Amino acid sequence: MKILVTGGAGYIGSHTCTVLLENGYDIVVADNLANSSMDAIDGIKKITQKSFPFYKTDLCDEAATEEIFASHKFDCVIHFAGLKAVAESVAKPIMYYENNLISTLNICKCMKKHRVPKIIFSSSAVVYKNDNPMPLTEDSPLGSINAYGWSKFMCEQILRDFAATETDFSVVSLRYFNPVGAHTSGLIGEEPSGIPNNLMPFIAQTARGIHSEIKIFGNDYDTPDGTGIRDYIHVMDLAEGHMNAINFANKNTGFEVFNLGTGRGVSVLEMITTFETVNGLKLPYSIAPRRAGDLPVSYTSPKKAEKILGFKAKRTIEDMCRDTWNFRR
Ligand code: NAD
Ligand code: UFG
Repeated sequence: MKILVTGGAGYIGSHTCTVLLENGYDIVVADNLANSSMDAIDGIKKITQKSFPFYKTDLCDEAATEEIFASHKFDCVIHFAGLKAVAESVAKPIMYYENNLISTLNICKCMKKHRVPKIIFSSSAVVYKNDNPMPLTEDSPLGSINAYGWSKFMCEQILRDFAATETDFSVVSLRYFNPVGAHTSGLIGEEPSGIPNNLMPFIAQTARGIHSEIKIFGNDYDTPDGTGIRDYIHVMDLAEGHMNAINFANKNTGFEVFNLGTGRGVSVLEMITTFETVNGLKLPYSIAPRRAGDLPVSYTSPKKAEKILGFKAKRTIEDMCRDTWNFRR
């Protein structure tokens, strides 16, 4: 089976490439390296001892995308490519809509033309409205408060309509919760450019001494320790979840959506103290005001993914903290 992995040089894409190669799939990676580098491609090759074609291509370029599809007979696309920084999407909404929608449209056009019948799409927990009761299920009401979330929502709608017309196609949208951690080799991991917005890369950089302290955005939420709660999932569990999605797509047609998380909420404070304990170090932190737009609590019901995909995250929060530090140090 030959798979086009878009955004395969990125954080989740690179980890998924290792899983795909180790499970005998042929892959072709396309990435414009807007938020990644060739280091990840080298890392994948080192880990797996396997080679694969890489295209430095902007998937918003229709002709260049078409060239990739014309050069290979793909069975499936895993579409990770996209811009993902929430705050940046609020400042530059048009850039986000253009990049995330045009690339997805171009891929759909090429899939239709070249009869590539399966796509796994990287969606996000941000497609859910922010006043839903927890846990979030796939039926929880949708809606966003930023352009990034709306771009994922719109891509899902494009893909839903696409599946309705290409009735022999299978479209699986995976709504990821909070991916953290790294490959145990330490050769690939999350490499945010600039100051990280997300908690785990900020913790890891603080452990390295790059920042003097972690700012906890609010300790007055209605949660057991007052800090925000998220459903962190190890990136290797998430990567493996794509295998379950491919197996599902092999047997089903139409559009289907799954939440991928652990179903367990972890607070900011719990994450910091676990990171300290597992890695035997001290992390300075202080309490800062709440961050605008943050939910107090977000976690999934893992039931649909468990029941239909047969997916269950295996790795613990300790694994997430250990592997993140193994990569970062
Ligand atoms: P990432 O930024 O590390 O990877 C995305 C990759 O896509 C990058 O390598 C980037 O260079 C590439 N890319 C972006 N636009 C492109 C274009 N027009 N043409 C070709 N390549 C392009 O992000 P990630 O964390 O690996 O996320 C992968 C996907 O999962 C994204 O679609 C993201 O929105 C989604 N997602 C991520 C998270 C998260 O917290 N990391 C959560 C939910 C959903
Ligand atoms: N937090 C801090 N200090 C920091 C960074 C984060 O206290 O320096 C807190 C946040 O307030 C929140 C928690 O840590 O309570 C997690 O924050 P992240 O920024 O790591 O994650 P978010 O849940 O806010 O958002 C992330 C991605 C989105 C994605 C979403 C999916 O940034 O792109 O998860 O649920 F869509």
